[in-house]
Amino acid sequence: MGTYKIAWLPGDGIGIEVMEAAKICLDALHFDATYTHGDIGWEFWRAEGDAFPARTIELLKNSHAALFGAITSKPVKDAERELAPELQGTGLVYRSPIVRMRQLFDLYICLRPCKAYPGNPLNYREGIDLAVFRENTEDLYAGVEFNPVPEELSACLSKLSKPFAHFAQLPGSDYALTCKINTKAGCERIIRAAFEHAKRFNYPKVTVIHKANVVRATEGLFLDTGRRIAKEYPGIQMDDANIDSICMWLLKNPHNYSVLVATNMFGDIISDLAAQMVGGLGFGCSGNIGEKLAVFEPTHGSAPKHAGKYKANPIATILASKMMLEWLGEKDKAARLEKATARVIAEGNVRTYDMGGSATTLEMGEAIAKALE
Ligand code: NAI
Ligand code: MG
Repeated sequence: MGTYKIAWLPGDGIGIEVMEAAKICLDALHFDATYTHGDIGWEFWRAEGDAFPARTIELLKNSHAALFGAITSKPVKDAERELAPELQGTGLVYRSPIVRMRQLFDLYICLRPCKAYPGNPLNYREGIDLAVFRENTEDLYAGVEFNPVPEELSACLSKLSKPFAHFAQLPGSDYALTCKINTKAGCERIIRAAFEHAKRFNYPKVTVIHKANVVRATEGLFLDTGRRIAKEYPGIQMDDANIDSICMWLLKNPHNYSVLVATNMFGDIISDLAAQMVGGLGFGCSGNIGEKLAVFEPTHGSAPKHAGKYKANPIATILASKMMLEWLGEKDKAARLEKATARVIAEGNVRTYDMGGSATTLEMGEAIAKALE
């Protein structure tokens, strides 16, 4: 038995291929782990009506961390049509395993480091080094939604809120309502995590992203919390920016930013923007991190059009493994893996199709494993 119990969740399509490449690197590092495969994804939805079966949840409960490839997922109605005939019409509703995982294990941090590794032909600019902290459990994505809006809710809201009176005149079937919910504790823990990260990795500044001037209740709470927590970290500068203006400033002056923190939906948006500045889907890695468990993954999906061809770039997944090593406290192995990845990118001899080359997924994995010192 290895020291670490790692749940290994390849999923669908290129998820399976990029995980193989990551495994080559982890083995070359002699990472002392026991890997246990977990069933997840589309195949299990079709055959069992559950894309995230109970046995996989059990596996995660008994693991130190998980590495997750990617899954195919589809809108609820298409999902229903693809179910095995005997499961159709039984009331099964497709739910995203990733969202369920975040909720079940309270993985409240979504961390996306976005570094421009020198020589990556896909860098928007050299020298970019960002870490996006996105709150992962609340906000507009909490799932508290109504369409149609029930009568009793409408009656209640028209009593409590003047601006709502205008909507209350409509029948509930003529509008939809999604609640944005942010708690004090939720804002506090994600902002604190961002400051702790800045402290640990010597970043000079944390930028709190918000829309406090318009979405006053929830975003106001987020900004106030940022200002309060910042006082506990006198060595780290705090600034703040509106979600819309940060999209402009980040593109114009990416070197002015380091750690960024935001509520769930704004964090989702800013994460994709930042990832595209350092190479896009083949480079975007992320960690879904809670107190007891963390699940690391590339941010891309199963890319059905490339599945089975072994041409996807595994660097995102290899960097996700590096994040996993770091989180487990294996600093030296994490640093070596990152250095080897950076070296292969800088040398430019082995490049997958997205980087303008023709190396396969596994050739990239092998090149990085070989570059380990
Ligand atoms: P996708 O991320 O799977 O792929 C979109 C395109 O980006 C690909 O066709 C390819 O050109 C490029 N790409 C993606 N990963 C790459 C890599 N590693 N190297 C080089 N190029 C890469 O997004 P798409 O096509 O919108 O979704 C496909 C399926 O994946 C859907 O079922 C979707 O729901 C699911 N999905 C799953 C995610 C996850 O598991 N975390 C995230 C995003 C989508
Ligand atoms: Mg996203």
